[in-house]
Order: sequence, then structure tokens, then C-alpha cells
Amino acid sequence: MASSITLRAILRSRSSVVIPSKSLFLARESIARSCFRRYAATNSSAAVRTEEKLPVRFDAVPNLNNYILQSINRNLKFKEMTEVQQRILPFLVADKTKGTSALVQAKTGTGKTVAFMIPVIQAVHDILLEHDELGRRIHKPLALVISPTRELAYQIKDEAKKLCSVMPPSERPIIKAIVGGVSRRMEEQKVFSQGGVDILVATPGRLLDYLHEDPRRFKNLQIKVYDEADRLLDQGFSREISEIRTRIERVTNIKQMLMFSATVGDGVVDIAEQELGKNYKFIRTTSEDDIPTHLSVPQSVIFVDKLSDHFEPLVSMLRKHLTEASTGQAFKAVVFLRTGKEVDHYHFLLHQLLRDYDIPVIPMSARLSQSARSKNLEKFKSSPTSILVASDVVARGVDVKNVTHVFQVGRAMGTDQYIHRVGRTGRAGKSGQGILILSKKENHFYESLKRMQITFSDEYQYISDPALATEICQVAKKELEWWQKQRREDELHKLEEKYAAHMRGHKIVRAPSGIFSKDIDVVRTVISQFGFYRSVIPKRELSSRDILRDIMAGIGYLGSDPDVKPAIDRQTSMVLKNKLSLTDKDVREFFVEDGTSRKEKWTPK
Ligand code: CDP
Ligand code: MG
Repeated sequence: MASSITLRAILRSRSSVVIPSKSLFLARESIARSCFRRYAATNSSAAVRTEEKLPVRFDAVPNLNNYILQSINRNLKFKEMTEVQQRILPFLVADKTKGTSALVQAKTGTGKTVAFMIPVIQAVHDILLEHDELGRRIHKPLALVISPTRELAYQIKDEAKKLCSVMPPSERPIIKAIVGGVSRRMEEQKVFSQGGVDILVATPGRLLDYLHEDPRRFKNLQIKVYDEADRLLDQGFSREISEIRTRIERVTNIKQMLMFSATVGDGVVDIAEQELGKNYKFIRTTSEDDIPTHLSVPQSVIFVDKLSDHFEPLVSMLRKHLTEASTGQAFKAVVFLRTGKEVDHYHFLLHQLLRDYDIPVIPMSARLSQSARSKNLEKFKSSPTSILVASDVVARGVDVKNVTHVFQVGRAMGTDQYIHRVGRTGRAGKSGQGILILSKKENHFYESLKRMQITFSDEYQYISDPALATEICQVAKKELEWWQKQRREDELHKLEEKYAAHMRGHKIVRAPSGIFSKDIDVVRTVISQFGFYRSVIPKRELSSRDILRDIMAGIGYLGSDPDVKPAIDRQTSMVLKNKLSLTDKDVREFFVEDGTSRKEKWTPK
């Protein structure tokens, strides 16, 4: 039975997330823990989980390059190896022929980067010593590491450089990154001409550009690594990855293939085997009965009624934590949102609503330029108390020290993505907390997580606080006014043209200002949000009408007058019906169709 009780009291008693204001009243429900299913067991015959005694210190790894060892001691200052490093380093470092391929699964934040970069650096170092004619002199990389995101590519490159910082320059492999969003011409010069490159870290799109242009640059490649392998092999990247593979295979034979991730499902193993061959080692440091996310991260869920109600509990929790932070409690949080647009919107609102705390609230999404992305991530890293408002561009791999909380607003793109997002905290043995805010309609996602053995220490129902809701609405209105000021008529016109072209000639009508007072390009917003909802929520969970209702509630909440329906022309109405599978009735519930009889026009209550 749900009982009404302040979240503060609940959380104190659990010494878990502590949520603030008297405004936040939550009813706690019991947590169903019985419906666990074994986390996907793979059918690979090569799974390795031996019980032999493993070396703990780096200096116990036979034949580990002394310069790498010194770099670790002096520069990285790691005392001991993590489990994944203990399992993989001894045999990969010993493998002089580089004939051992491996698929490795280990939890987030457990040192996978070092686990694959040490063998790669050592192998490349040895090749360079043996074969003067290879490598940097002719600017052709020997090893390639592929990462799904730019931030991760840069991070891998930086970590790898630290691992060989003590090597004499004449022996030190040259490590560089190629990523999208930066000038190609300058990058090409820097990476392939000035000094060359021995180990190349790349994002798939940019790598393909270079492969199209001059595949022979890659003819010396011997080692290939996929970091976040399951992401690279899933639908979003699989076409690019398979083209990369084909193009590389035309110019060289890869001797060693390494794939790493925190999540490796059955489907991935099948696809991975095509590249790994049959004789690869499959190493997992999580046992099949383990929880696939870091055990030191307690996770809780907060339910709200509607999809558009997610924001209020977030503000409430952030304020509470920031109040505590002002008395010395650590608080560094990532707030994950579903789209770049949501990041813009939430960032604006949080920036205003958290102004009194005087801490950086930093946006991060693919809508920013690459230089802004890099700058923002650096700022987040260097600010002890701060909030990163982010899309999934930093969901995987990104290692920021001392993140104390990860908030997820709405369901993630999948259960694996949920795990990776939570994995931004609780890294390298530190503690952390994960908080998921879901609407009741997203309960299905919560059930899926529980079926994957992800345990939630607490489950709450958020009860809205009218004062806070009003405050948020006022700030949302400011945002609209700001946009209105920013968007000059010509800019608006361009936006419409762009969108109309996208919609294959359908004209998108902006509501007349008197009727729909705040111009936020309603139809455009509806269609783009609808696309998002549909991509993550299967039809059986939410009808088109449910989704539309929620989107429209959100638009009302954005400050537009919720009592006035936006006007659309017939053509737009047709687009809505066809594209979103809506009926006439559905459309009329939310819009006024221009040219329809006057009495159909909605009148304020
Ligand atoms: O890739 P994964 O999520 O497993 O973790 P990572 O990005 O490699 O980060 C692991 C964190 O642990 C980094 O901050 C490392 O500096 C640190 N660490 C490590 O990698 N190895 C150790 N033996 C000790 C600490
Ligand atoms: Mg990683």
C-alpha cells in the first residue's frame, strides 16, 4: 500500500538521495524484487572465467614494457590493477604474435581503457622498434581504436598518451584522434602529415571519410579495437562499421581484434564473431548472475503522472542537493535527457531556476559545435560542484572523476543505455547514485530494467507542488520571450522554409499570434517530438493520441496558453493524420483546422 510520507524522511532513513523542499511529497510503494531473470547469457563457447590466481600489481604482469610501468607509477599513479586488467593484460601483453582476439565485458568505470591501450601501445612500440620502415615515417597507423563518440575518442587518446608519457620520444608511439565536427583540412594536416600517427583513435563517420579518400593510408594496420563494441555493432552504426571493415580488408589483414563494452548481449556476440573469428577469448568480469551495472551505485525511481511532468521533481532534487553542497557535501551531477532540444530547453530553465546557487549548469549535446562540446566537458570536469545537462553523447565511456549523481529524465533509448548512463557515476571504486524519473506510462521500461536484475532501492511517486510548478512556468515563459527576441523574422522564415522542404512541400502554418500567443512553431515541435516518442515507445504501450496529448500538455507547460488551440491549415492537418496515424477526431481535440466552421473553433473555458 502506498503511504504518503515526505521524501526527506524516506531518504534520511535510507541514507540515500536526499530530496529537499517541503514541497516534495512522495508516496513510497513497495519494490517488487521477485521478477528477476538471468542477465542475458551469451552462447559463445569461448567465455572465460577462470579461478586461477591473478597478478594484482602492474609490475607482476610478465614482460610489461618498463616505460609503460613507469608511466603508470609516476603519472597515472594506479596502485593496483582492476579485475578486467588483471584478467586481460597478462596474456595480451605476452602475445607477441598479436594473434589473440578478444571480446571483453566489464562493468562501467572499471578501467577498460587501460586494459586495451596497454597491449596496443606495447605491440605498436615493439613493431616500431623491429621495423623501422613502418609507422610514423610514412604516416600510416599500425593500430586503430574506434569509439562511438567524439568525447570518448579524445578521452581514449589522452589516457593512452599518459600511458607512454615516460617513453623516450624516439620510441614513443604517436597517438592522435580523428573526429567529426572539426575542420577536415586542418585535422588531416595535423594527423597524417605533421609527425604522422602510429595509433589512431577515430569516430566512425570521420574514419570513413578518410577511408573513402585514401584507403592505402591504412595498409599497415594490424590491430583494431572497438570500444563500446555493442554500440558500434548495433543498428545505429552497423552500416558504417561494416563499410569500414570492408574497406580496411581490401588493403590489409587485421591480426588482432579487441572488442570492449560493459554490456554485451547475445545479438552482439553473433555479429562480433564475424570479425573476431572463431578463436577469440571471451572474458567477462561480471558473472552471469551479477548485476550488470556497478554495485556501488544505488538506484531509485521517481514516478510522475504525465510525460510532461518530469521536470518538477528534478528541480526540487537539484535544489536540495545544492543546498547541501553549500555546506560542504559533494555534488556533481549529470542530468540525462532524451534529445538535444530537450537539453537546450532544460538547460535554459535550470540555469534560471538554480541561479541562486551560483554553480555552473553546463549543456552538452550534438547541437553544440565540437569546440563548445570540448570546452563544456572540460568545464564540468574542472568544477567541483556542477551540473551537466546532457544528451546521450556522453552516455557511454566518458570518464569524469567524482560524479556523485546521475539523473535520467524519462526512459533511456534502451536498458543498455540506461546502464551506461548510470555508469557515469560510481567509477573507479567511488560511490554514486542513480535517479530515474519516469511517468506512469513509462512503467514498462522500469519493468524491463527489473527483469535485467537491476535493483532499485526505492520507488517514489512525486506529488506536485503548486508553488514550484508556478515558478517553473514563469521561467518557461521567459524562455519563450527570449527565443522570440532572438528569432528575427528572416530567421523564422528560413526555419520554416527548411522545415517545409523537409516535409516535402507541406506548408507549416504558424498560429496567428492573437490565437496562439507564443510562437513556438507548434506543428514542427509536435512532429519532431512525436518521432522521438515513437522511436522509443512501442505502439502497444502508448497510442498516438496518448502521445499527442502529452506533447500538447508539454507545449502548454512551455508557457503557451493551454486554453487556446493552435490553428493549422488543411494540408498540415493531413500531414498530422498521415504521419502520426491520428484520426480527424484526434486532430480536432488539439488543433483548430483553418477553414472549418467557426463553431468548431475552441473557445476558452
Ligand atoms: O572504460 P571503463 O568504463 O571501464 O572505465 P575507464 O573509462 O577506463 O575509467 C576507469 C577509471 O579508473 C579512470 O578514471 C582510470 O583513471 C581509473 N583507473 C584505472 O583505469 N585503472 C586502475 N588500475 C585504477 C584506476
Ligand atoms: Mg570505457
